[in-house]
Amino acid sequence: MAERFRPDLRWSDVTPRDAWLSRRRLIAAGGAAAGIALAAPAAARIEAAPSRWSTDERQNSFEDITRYNNFYEFGTGKEDPAANAHRLTTDPWAVVIDGLVDRPGTYDLADVLAGQPMEERIYRLRCVEAWSMVVPWIGFELAGLLSRVGVQPSAKYVAFQTLLRPEEMVGQRSRMIDWPYVEGLRLDEAMHPLTILATGLYGEPMPNQNGAPIRLVVPWKYGFKSIKSIVRISLTADEPPCTWNVLQPGEYGFYANVNPEVDHPRWSQATERRIGDGLLARRRPTLMFNGYAEHVAGLYAGMDLARYY
Ligand code: MTE
Repeated sequence: MAERFRPDLRWSDVTPRDAWLSRRRLIAAGGAAAGIALAAPAAARIEAAPSRWSTDERQNSFEDITRYNNFYEFGTGKEDPAANAHRLTTDPWAVVIDGLVDRPGTYDLADVLAGQPMEERIYRLRCVEAWSMVVPWIGFELAGLLSRVGVQPSAKYVAFQTLLRPEEMVGQRSRMIDWPYVEGLRLDEAMHPLTILATGLYGEPMPNQNGAPIRLVVPWKYGFKSIKSIVRISLTADEPPCTWNVLQPGEYGFYANVNPEVDHPRWSQATERRIGDGLLARRRPTLMFNGYAEHVAGLYAGMDLARYY
């Protein structure tokens, strides 16, 4: 990982979070020029209740979480999303919810969020590339939204799609992926209380590079399942296509459950590097289902996890 600052990073991307917040307060108060911080309004924070599902592990810094990203729509390098995602327009934003639902439609983001209880969920995120982070997400259970639109009995899967907008998403000008990025879950996985739609982190609206304005977080699966900047959610009878599975089926399965016993064909999944630990720190053992086994192992009872990886 190259810890290199780029001149085109925004100020918030290269600044310790406290300094960044106080600078924002200064700007908000119009005091930057005068150098006065008095009477600055607090930065807007999202109200969210703590959650019983949160881990008490040390959280990664705001900088770790917003400068080391996978978001191929903005480039393939870890620092590309932080450098390029400011181009993304996230307001207005609508989400199409369709397929096997009682109330299909194009929902404005405000309607998607209406009435959903926002919580802070501190989750481990384990990337298939064998690194991990701990992120304080702000979000709500996907099950709440699905119940509101009414899932029909014939629905077995949920398909998700990211925005397609190459004018703003510079990575979409490359053909390496058949855009838009798509992902999917089995319905029982989507309805599990651990599965959330996140709209923020560290108490603030979602940074663009992390999937603004709304992204999925499924903590027991490799990070690539947690699709960003969602514009469509479809309930289907058949298993939907998933970007990495379509691209390299021998390396990335539909389930993508974190599993230390099933290696990626090109590297081990037995251990992981926690971002922020430093390059000399000991690797950590990877936990089955990313440590959420007691809650989700039952979803896969009787399945051969080496076959359904
Ligand atoms: N969603 C979209 N649309 N495009 C992507 O390239 N990358 C995935 C996932 N969601 C990706 C995506 C991968 S590989 C990971 S590890 C996580 O986003 C990273 O989330 P983070 O950058 O917020 O840590």
